[in-house]
Amino acid sequence: MRFDRRKDLLGLRDVEREEIEAVLETAVPMKDIITRDMKKVPTLKGKSIITVFYENSTRTRTSFDLAGRYLSADTPNLTVSTSSVQKGESLKDTIKTIEMMGPDVLVMRHSLSGAPHYVARNTSMRVINAGDGINEHPTQALLDMYSILERKGRLEGLKVVIVGDILHSRVARSNIFGLSKFGCELRVVGPSTLIPSDIEKLGVKAYANLEAGIRGADVINVLRIQKERQHGALFPSIDEYRELYMVKPEHLALAADDAIVLHPGPMNRGIEISTELAESSRCVVNEQVTNGVAVRMAILYLMLGGGRDEIAC
Ligand code: NCD
Repeated sequence: MRFDRRKDLLGLRDVEREEIEAVLETAVPMKDIITRDMKKVPTLKGKSIITVFYENSTRTRTSFDLAGRYLSADTPNLTVSTSSVQKGESLKDTIKTIEMMGPDVLVMRHSLSGAPHYVARNTSMRVINAGDGINEHPTQALLDMYSILERKGRLEGLKVVIVGDILHSRVARSNIFGLSKFGCELRVVGPSTLIPSDIEKLGVKAYANLEAGIRGADVINVLRIQKERQHGALFPSIDEYRELYMVKPEHLALAADDAIVLHPGPMNRGIEISTELAESSRCVVNEQVTNGVAVRMAILYLMLGGGRDEIAC
């Protein structure tokens, strides 16, 4: 499968390594565009990309919006909190209504795992999953992979550790699916109640001890505690979590000399990551945000028919 032939991007589980490489390569000239003074190129003029977010977002929604605009597409947003969803309209009817207005791409976030898959089967629009419940968040993982590649020069063979609320993290799942296609050594760290019991089937090694899990790591991806998805007491208290799992500068001494720290945002400073680490030069959280725009430009460009050799600049 070629990435530029896909109708939808719903997750990385079924995306091939070559497709990921196409996105990561295309994001390089896209990043060049967004660091210029004059950021707009005409490539997607006449195309429209609608974002529909049933869950809150700062980074993902804004970066899709800007990614589309930098490529000259129109990028309307449907604000779910002020839409007819609040009058009881079903997901199916809302999506059909949007489809009849003619946008080319629907970028969708929903609290239910599988919602974008259902929509994709029932619409002619291209669908990009911007996060579905605890399932996948493919564009976040692609921007994480881009950020790692940019700093490390390779993905192959890196030791990547994901720390925190693995159970509720669509970011963790998409990272695991993506990075495992590049021969990374993958580890997860967290309280056993926040690690899916069958995680090792995905080729991942699980650790309950932060120090043991971080030892020798090239990349430490720290996750937010997803308070909105904890429907029971899965760990004794925030204080205990902080004590055992907050990643601090001293942990970097256990990792590889040039280890980097990622966080998808939003950060709970002082819970999963210390402020000192969040603001250190080893933490690439701000680069991730910029790279998120470049990677989403690459995805939109490839999905909307741009050939890899002909980026109109
Ligand atoms: C993530 C998400 O929404 O899944 N955020 C993001 O897209 N940058 C992670 C999170 O909310 O913790």
